[in-house]
Amino acid sequence: MKQSPIYLDYNATTPIDPLVREAMLPYLSEHFGNPSSDYIFGRRAREAVEHARKQVAALIGARPEEVVFTSGGSESDNQAIVGTALANAGKGKHIIATRIEHPAVTNTCRYLEKTLGFSVSYLPVDRYGMVDPQDVRQAITRETILITVMHANNEVGTIEPVEEIGVMAKEWGILFHTDAAQSCGKIDVNVDRLHVDLLTIAGHKLYAPKGIGALFIRSGDSVDSLIHGAGQEKGRRAGTENVPYIVGLGAACELAGRALPEYGAVKALRDRLHAAIVDGLGEDMVRLNGHPENRLPNTLNISIRGLVGGDLLGAIPEMAASTGAACHAGSPEPSGVLLEMGLGRELALGALRLTLGRWTTEEEIDAAGGLIVERARQMVGWRGGNTNALS
Ligand SMILES: Cc1ncc(COP(=O)(O)O)c(C=O)c1O
Repeated sequence: MKQSPIYLDYNATTPIDPLVREAMLPYLSEHFGNPSSDYIFGRRAREAVEHARKQVAALIGARPEEVVFTSGGSESDNQAIVGTALANAGKGKHIIATRIEHPAVTNTCRYLEKTLGFSVSYLPVDRYGMVDPQDVRQAITRETILITVMHANNEVGTIEPVEEIGVMAKEWGILFHTDAAQSCGKIDVNVDRLHVDLLTIAGHKLYAPKGIGALFIRSGDSVDSLIHGAGQEKGRRAGTENVPYIVGLGAACELAGRALPEYGAVKALRDRLHAAIVDGLGEDMVRLNGHPENRLPNTLNISIRGLVGGDLLGAIPEMAASTGAACHAGSPEPSGVLLEMGLGRELALGALRLTLGRWTTEEEIDAAGGLIVERARQMVGWRGGNTNALS
């Protein structure tokens, strides 16, 4: 699917897969029933929702009854954190998170601090954006009821040591949530291997529409609901189900599982783009942000010395990419994630987040690499061969 301008912002959102759209269409027309109704229209809708639940569960190695449909990643994070806090406040009021979580996690934690008297330990990360499991262990107190650590960071792609933290959480009997909005569909995600109790999925990061997501809640865990009403989703999330979008998420998850091997090629294209930029601008001028190996295969975050990322992107109208998280777009402030990783303000402002998808082509990558090098050279007043020639 060729895009114009070249689309390199798949971590912000993905287009809807045409097969996902096709699966959804009947549920926007003839199959309009309410899943709670007791006649054929209702039964059809109900069966579609349950089929989608199986498809989502299969992608993450869960049981279908452990999947709750939500309105997206933010709601899933909110339900995981607030729901756990409400259900377990009697046991303790301490939560452990990292300093590089998505605002859907950070601001939810802050809300609990402000309104319900919770205390939250926000753990630092290293220069690659990775949290140290030993820091998690040291932060645990008798009051700790939840640990929340994202699976992969949305800006730099670093994959966190979730498995190790999960083992620790289990040992201590503490519930463990991971926000897998960015990792689901890009790398293998399995709730048992990761030892998580709660896991967030966001549809629009894996070729389903925006406004649909899911939360995995391990059977037996006590997590309160946020939306109260009739008994949909077994009482865990009230409201008539968004059947077409749920069907879309199910189809997207099934396709994502099948497409995982394609990410080897996506990674090769990402590395080709990185190499082209380094070749064109010189190693001294380009800094890779994020872990060199332990990182999402589609994510390339670089800082170009002497440039403001937003200015450079403004000079490349042929390409759509970002300087960091989509929700931070347009801000004159540098990314908080990069600052937490120890980058100085100037380097952090020089960041570009280039994120590829299943449909990114070699032709697009070569064109994007050429444009970035050309416009960056123009902006720094490039005078030739190597970085020493920069003015
Ligand atoms: C890591 C992460 N968590 C949560 C979200 C929020 O998801 P949604 O936009 O579906 O609410 C995003 C989206 O940017 C994300 O990248």
